[in-house]
Amino acid sequence: MKNDFEQRKKDHIRLALSEQSQQLADSQFAKIKLSHNALPEIRFNDIHLQTQLFDFTFSTPHFISSMTAGHEDSKSINLRLALAAQEKNWLMAIGSQRKELTDPDAAHEWKEIRKLAPDVRFISNVGILEVIQYPAEAILKLAENLDAVALYIHLNPLQEVFQKNSHVDFTHGLKSIETLVKKSKIPILVKEVGFGISADLVKKLIDIGVYAVDVAGHGGTHWGYIEALRHEDDSTEKMAISAFSDWGSSTIDCLLQCQEYVLFHPIFASGGIRSGVDTAKCLALGARAIGIAQPLMKAAIDSEIAVMKVMDVFDYQLKVSMFCLGIKRTEEFLHKKVWQYQA
Ligand SMILES: Cc1cc2nc3c(=O)[nH]c(=O)nc-3n(C[C@H](O)[C@H](O)[C@H](O)COP(=O)(O)O)c2cc1C
Repeated sequence: MKNDFEQRKKDHIRLALSEQSQQLADSQFAKIKLSHNALPEIRFNDIHLQTQLFDFTFSTPHFISSMTAGHEDSKSINLRLALAAQEKNWLMAIGSQRKELTDPDAAHEWKEIRKLAPDVRFISNVGILEVIQYPAEAILKLAENLDAVALYIHLNPLQEVFQKNSHVDFTHGLKSIETLVKKSKIPILVKEVGFGISADLVKKLIDIGVYAVDVAGHGGTHWGYIEALRHEDDSTEKMAISAFSDWGSSTIDCLLQCQEYVLFHPIFASGGIRSGVDTAKCLALGARAIGIAQPLMKAAIDSEIAVMKVMDVFDYQLKVSMFCLGIKRTEEFLHKKVWQYQA
């Protein structure tokens, strides 16, 4: 059982780094054109990316999107990510803590990382299936053990069916999230894993008190492919997956659909963010924080230095974008229209 889990997590990393799992052609970032300002009348060095989230100030609106945890390889990967996050003052969302619900030893990974990176602000992570199946107290304990500043619940119907086939039951999902929100002292966030969250579900989640929704749209890592490619070549799952290659809504489409909420409620964006220019587009559409997964995983396989280099490039690209838009502070994006839609 333990080996199955470890193998599955290792396969996830290997496949997330493969071209087959990357659906960048469908990302739709090209449909948003930022309005170049040829005379911005600001100093490049006056541009600040500082971002306030959950009463903390981070150096950037970028954050490390939830990734792998709970197996042998993940320890070194998560340590490199955490050390880089601490050094750069980035917020770090961690991967699913599901294993900790049944195996108390699994939490050791985080205890060791905490010792070496005591100042990092973490976001806990658990799937909707666990939120449905376990008492709220058990889920909240995961965040408490990590000393997390918030907790992410990931919604992943397409991934779950391609992983477990018929044993998937999302009944009572919204009610379970509501129960957790009511019992939690820290903000509860909800995300997808790369297929997007529609505006009507965003509204339902806001209505039950979810602090922020991360639309986590299509256009980056495709978790249906990652799960399907783990099956045998002649399996139904592997033969079925190509029909779902463009399933879901892109991160850009989700943000466009959420325009009526972005001013009054924190909406986060992730899924297919591959440059700081993509970030600028999401901020222009009202997102408050931007998650990056696969590019940071790729760097973390290598070293902490490689992770910091990727972080620097994303932040620099965002700064250059802001200079050429005449924007000095990330909050200004919420009040200036600096984009056009190109059909
Ligand atoms: C190796 C890997 C592991 C992941 N594990 C989790 C997870 O445990 N929980 C979760 O909510 N999302 C997980 N994700 C999904 C990401 O948080 C993100 O939603 C998705 O990969 C799309 O972002 P990207 O295009 O930048 O990769 C994982 C992503 C990667 C690449």
